[in-house]
Amino acid sequence: MPTETVYGLAADATNGLAVAAIYAAKGRPQFNPLICHVTDLAMAEKEARFSSLARDLAARFWPGPLTLVLPRAPTSSASELATAGLETIALRVPKNPAATGLISRVGRPLAAPSANPSERLSPTSADHVEALLGMSIDLILDGGPTSAGLESTIIMPTHEGVFLLRPGPLSRAEIESVTGPLAALHNDAAILAPGMLKRHYAPRARLRLEAVDAAPGEAFLGFGEPPGGVVPTLNLSLRGDLAEAAANLFAMLHRLDSSYASIAVARIPNEGLGEGIRDRLTRAAARF
Ligand code: TXA
Ligand code: MG
Repeated sequence: MPTETVYGLAADATNGLAVAAIYAAKGRPQFNPLICHVTDLAMAEKEARFSSLARDLAARFWPGPLTLVLPRAPTSSASELATAGLETIALRVPKNPAATGLISRVGRPLAAPSANPSERLSPTSADHVEALLGMSIDLILDGGPTSAGLESTIIMPTHEGVFLLRPGPLSRAEIESVTGPLAALHNDAAILAPGMLKRHYAPRARLRLEAVDAAPGEAFLGFGEPPGGVVPTLNLSLRGDLAEAAANLFAMLHRLDSSYASIAVARIPNEGLGEGIRDRLTRAAARF
């Protein structure tokens, strides 16, 4: 779908399988959290908790190239794959009637990263999208060339200050006219920056990867047919489907994390979406 910044590869944010299809089409090796696109502030408030400052930013810049990273609301409908299991969600209201028309017809938030294969230039026309992704997507809504041509400015207002996570079409000065001085991104905070996002989902439980069995009291998170004698506590995909596994990943880890101190995870093949699943599991298994 067209937006005022770049074309987005959109899917129903509430449908884990649809979100997995975005990663598959982009060939994105990591499940970075995606921006969820909504029609207006009312729809956004179902997904996230807005402070009064966040509301001021939305009132001033939406619709427009501002993405807000905010705490997820209990009423949020987005799949955990869209938010990569984080407690926060990135939201924006695009300034493009084709985009907001599409979202309001679907009636659900649309997750949409830029509609380019990983590591290629972001598309600013339907022709770019056709050339880059035409083979792997269903439909291109041609809204003409985009006006901003640069991905949205990402802002995270927190109790510790307001952080600029990604510079974009809205300048620092424009943001600061609402928020006052932005907080400096010191080294620790820099890991919040898009692309270097280390602030990933980390379970409390210990994760044991490439497991072929489970110790007593340990959960077994399966993939495909379980090894002989093992009864998986949960299975990412009994039929060994990587898109289904991606869709289930964060939700199942959350469920097991709430009742087990250790989780054994079956081997995930290192192909297609498996690369992203393995990336996330490896990060979740690393102890900091
Ligand atoms: O202009 C845009 O923002 C375009 C158009 C299509 O709307 N979309 C876009 O999406 O650039 P994407 O997925 O390429 O960029 C999303 C960025 C990621 O780099 C990610 O790190 C950051 O937003 N992000 C998403 N959710 C986040 C969260 N909960 N916390 C921190 N960063 C987040
Ligand atoms: Mg991008």
